[in-house]
Amino acid sequence: MSKQTWLTGITTSGTPHLGNYVGAIRPAVEASRNPERGGFYFLADYHAMIKNQDPVLLRDSRQQISAAWLALGLDTERATFYRQSDIPEIMEMTWMLTCLTAKGLMNRAHAYKAVVQENLDNEAADPDKGITMGLFSYPILMAADILMFRATHVPVGRDQTQHLEMARDIAQRFNHHYGDLLVMPQAVVDDKASVLAGLDGRKMSKSYGNTIPLFETARKLRKSIMKIKTNSQEPGEPKDPEGNTLFEIYEAFASEEQAQAMRQAYADGIGWGDAKQQLFELVDGVLAEPRQRYDELMANPAEIDAVLNTGAEKARALSRPMLDEMRRAVGVA
Ligand code: TRP
Repeated sequence: MSKQTWLTGITTSGTPHLGNYVGAIRPAVEASRNPERGGFYFLADYHAMIKNQDPVLLRDSRQQISAAWLALGLDTERATFYRQSDIPEIMEMTWMLTCLTAKGLMNRAHAYKAVVQENLDNEAADPDKGITMGLFSYPILMAADILMFRATHVPVGRDQTQHLEMARDIAQRFNHHYGDLLVMPQAVVDDKASVLAGLDGRKMSKSYGNTIPLFETARKLRKSIMKIKTNSQEPGEPKDPEGNTLFEIYEAFASEEQAQAMRQAYADGIGWGDAKQQLFELVDGVLAEPRQRYDELMANPAEIDAVLNTGAEKARALSRPMLDEMRRAVGVA
């Protein structure tokens, strides 16, 4: 079997919340510690710029997200952890790929089409209202992120699988035209990946405003947890854990035995106030130590930068020769 190369991009928008932790950070950190895996983990800050053009927010978000991944134990010895914007070769490669990408392919991208549809629904004079070339062509940038490091496996959410197909399509065209230089990547979609419910029971997401931040003080965490929506069942009434937001969040952090004990407590009619207190204690127990580390890192950005600078060096040791090969292949070098 030939060697696998795993690669994960993290768009640096927003503040990490419990949903990001359960759905993305926890499984990725575990994978980074797996001796068979390692791989590439990068902060997709040029992707974040598509939606976020506030320089202060952009910088803050990248710092919070890097601190969170490091505090939660990303193995930066085994894995290569870097900022996309530190790898100028990715931008050069993006242009080469852009010249090989059919515009029609980009026309079909869901992210772009969704905004066009919204404009049509709102009867906007221009269906492309508010759409930048960044939004339109970002699947090409994403293809360069992936193809640069010859990634074979890319864990993504279902919403991103189309981008992986596009990356393959683009790579195939390049190879057909210039010779076999690029490696075909495949999406790895984990259908069992946990989707955490938010305060209101819908998927925890920044766009719904129903998130619980990952690293706030214990007091604030408790306050957020107390806001989780419950029904009007009284203490003493048996409760159904299935589809219950509070229980789902509990389960995402609990061991088998803890989850089983909580199921029993529901059957025995635990009050919502008690259940929330127990959820708080569980989550706080998991996050207390990383939180301390996170606060240290946030107070000392130079420490984060040092790790990311080392990551950039490791990454560029690969991206430079790769770009050289591509430059020769296309005839500019
Ligand atoms: N677009 C991805 C997202 O929104 C993030 C991303 C950027 C990415 N470049 C990537 C993911 C390369 C995997 C590989 O989630």
